[in-house]
Amino acid sequence: MKNITIAIDGFSSTGKSTVAKQLAKHLGYVYVDTGAMYRAVTYYAMQNGLISDLDFNKEALIYQLPNIKISFKFNKTLGFAEVYLNAVNIEKEIRTLEVSSYVSKVAAISEIRQKLVEQQQQMGQDKGVVMDGRDIGTVVFPDAELKLFMTASAETRAERRYQELIERGDDVEYKDVLDNVKERDYIDSNRKDSPLKKAEDAIEIDNSNMSLDEQFNTILQLAKMTT
Ligand code: C5P
Repeated sequence: MKNITIAIDGFSSTGKSTVAKQLAKHLGYVYVDTGAMYRAVTYYAMQNGLISDLDFNKEALIYQLPNIKISFKFNKTLGFAEVYLNAVNIEKEIRTLEVSSYVSKVAAISEIRQKLVEQQQQMGQDKGVVMDGRDIGTVVFPDAELKLFMTASAETRAERRYQELIERGDDVEYKDVLDNVKERDYIDSNRKDSPLKKAEDAIEIDNSNMSLDEQFNTILQLAKMTT
């Protein structure tokens, strides 16, 4: 079986990362969560007072980009690679609703996308990779052998994300999570640079009514047919 590149794109909270992790584990591939990279830059901006509800100092963030080093380290216990910002593990910190509320504004900046896309292309250069995000099949790996585009209703996605946040112990309201999902969909789909859209040759999977097992098996079959 030859190694391929699997690109998984789609709207927020469509369960891309869950299936991408399962698939990478099963195939012995590397998994790259590109959303975590945009979240890491956003977290840096928050920590350094560059973004808040009142203000967003884009120029300062762009100027400080060379100081932002993002890396991944495999955690054997968890079974996937966690994200590090300047050598500090920030896997938990980047999953808050606060980071989610700013990340799409940060991800719309071309200079940031350019830096992260370059790093993503390096990470996937040897193939044998499952990468999830918004522009993997369209921009990062337009030649990926298998491209998937995941969808589900905004309500279904918000409910899943809400449950995740509650299980982590975060104090959030369902309505705020739903508003955030819809806002990110809008910003991600309408930005000038690399908007979220289905690549022409991507296979669309609506998982609103699919169990995790059904989804995994469907995608595994597609991967097997491609390799
Ligand atoms: O996948 P996740 O929901 O963690 O992504 C967070 C945000 O990062 C998205 O809403 C989007 O704004 C941005 N993103 C992106 N391009 C990617 C991955 C994520 O613009 N390839």
